[in-house]
Amino acid sequence: MSTIHVPLAVRDLTPADVPTCTWSGDRRHLEKLPVQLARARDGVVDYLAVCPPSDIPVAIGGVDYEARPGAGVIWQLAVMPALQSCGIGTVLIRAAEDRIRRRDLSTAELSVEEDNPRARALYERLGYHAYGSEKDGWDTEGPDGATVWHETMCTLMRRELR
Ligand SMILES: CC(C)(COP(=O)(O)OP(=O)(O)OC[C@H]1O[C@@H](n2cnc3c(N)ncnc32)[C@H](O)[C@@H]1OP(=O)(O)O)[C@@H](O)C(=O)NCCC(=O)NCCS
Repeated sequence: MSTIHVPLAVRDLTPADVPTCTWSGDRRHLEKLPVQLARARDGVVDYLAVCPPSDIPVAIGGVDYEARPGAGVIWQLAVMPALQSCGIGTVLIRAAEDRIRRRDLSTAELSVEEDNPRARALYERLGYHAYGSEKDGWDTEGPDGATVWHETMCTLMRRELR
């Protein structure tokens, strides 16, 4: 096995990036990214991209400042599948926490589906603790391309930022 070190920059996601992010979710998710970028222009969310020197995103995720008063809610985290477990998700979460601090907020929150123990283990390693659970749901793309409602139980987690 060879090891190389790749510099990563974290910047705001732009509309031009969206077509390169097909790995981040299904068609419904991609169709809604421009809506989130419009919210970013309005200042109610941050939407971040982690990029190697090509400046093409290999990880994306947002911070929602409207979802829970007094906190930044980190959501829609996705790392390109071929590059998962390399520490890129950690870089993205730490950058999201920096954005939350910049808004003078001291709490970062996120939620994780109960059937995603690997992601939950990562969040615990990064200092998040569970404080509740909540039913959530969203549109997904079914096998025939039809919209299917996906309902799930999520664990709510938070971390106090110093
Ligand atoms: C969850 C997710 C965002 C985490 O991103 P990631 O880049 O894989 O996360 P990290 O690499 O920072 O840390 C996770 C794993 O890598 C390990 N790791 C952390 N830093 C590392 C490093 N520098 N080198 C190697 N491994 C590292 C962690 O211990 C953890 O181990 P695991 O693979 O055994 O679970 C990503 O895996 C993903 O997109 N998953 C699919 C979508 C998803 O589940 N999103 C979350 C919804 S809540």
